[in-house]
Amino acid sequence: MPHNLQPTKGRRQKPKPPVKWAGGKTQLLSQFAPLFPRQKYNLYLEPFVGGGAVFFHLQPSAAILIDSNAELINFYRVVRDNLEQLLEDLAKHKNTREYYYSLRALDPEKLSPVQRASRFLYLNKTAYNGLWRVNSKGRFNVPFGRYKNPRIIDEENLQLVAGALRRAELLAGDFSLVLKLAPPGAFVYFDPPYDPLSETANFTSYTPGSFTREDQLRLSRVFAELDRRGCLVMLSNSDTPFIRSLYSSYNIRVVTARRAINCRPDGRGPVTELVIRNY
Ligand SMILES: C[S@@+](CC[C@H](N)C(=O)[O-])C[C@H]1O[C@@H](n2cnc3c(N)ncnc32)[C@H](O)[C@@H]1O
Repeated sequence: MPHNLQPTKGRRQKPKPPVKWAGGKTQLLSQFAPLFPRQKYNLYLEPFVGGGAVFFHLQPSAAILIDSNAELINFYRVVRDNLEQLLEDLAKHKNTREYYYSLRALDPEKLSPVQRASRFLYLNKTAYNGLWRVNSKGRFNVPFGRYKNPRIIDEENLQLVAGALRRAELLAGDFSLVLKLAPPGAFVYFDPPYDPLSETANFTSYTPGSFTREDQLRLSRVFAELDRRGCLVMLSNSDTPFIRSLYSSYNIRVVTARRAINCRPDGRGPVTELVIRNY
């Protein structure tokens, strides 16, 4: 084992999220640390896993990870089960505009799982802003990011990610799948797409694939059902009156995040977010 893969201070070295993901929780982990359950849990479930910052931080011994993004879930499966082949395919990519658009134009469903995962990671690291956005037909449509030297292959981190994922089952689908999968005593962490901060944004816009207030309501019912079942449940969301009203009977904590928001003229600055727990 090369020296830099040795566990530090007797503990496994932690993987970092292998993809850039909107709403990534890395910067909030230190504020989350005292809010995770102190009691032992038999299973960890994360139904909006995204970049997986919380999963990779906690490194639970058994986990079920869900996301509605099938490209993301395929990528995690390939990292876990077929990393060697993925690394070989990743080495073929070029950082040019022409190459970017030729790869973007491919239909992922016609590729092998390894090629599909490789395309996904390449686009994630070279697309403008590291965004993952699809059009109404579900096709990825972010322009080329023109980064000088994007780090597409971080082999050491991908090895750590693969190790953590070996203890996880991966499912592409809706968050409500968790109701079929969480036993009493499990810890469930929800990080849904956030309720928009501005009053005018999104309330009546039902862009295909967007997470509506109806979805937030559906999620609050799933939260309540898991609470009744005896699961430990934690959820993060934006600090809006709507979210506060949905979860008013639970334990609500405020954390501070530095993120870009649309409703302020300068578009940035600290903003409060909520962590809601049933314990
Ligand atoms: C805020 S992000 C999660 C960020 C993650 N905690 C991180 O640290 O990167 C929300 C995720 O929910 C997924 N998603 C959106 N709608 C969903 C649904 N109905 N069911 C499951 N996942 C969904 C998105 O694909 C996205 O990855």
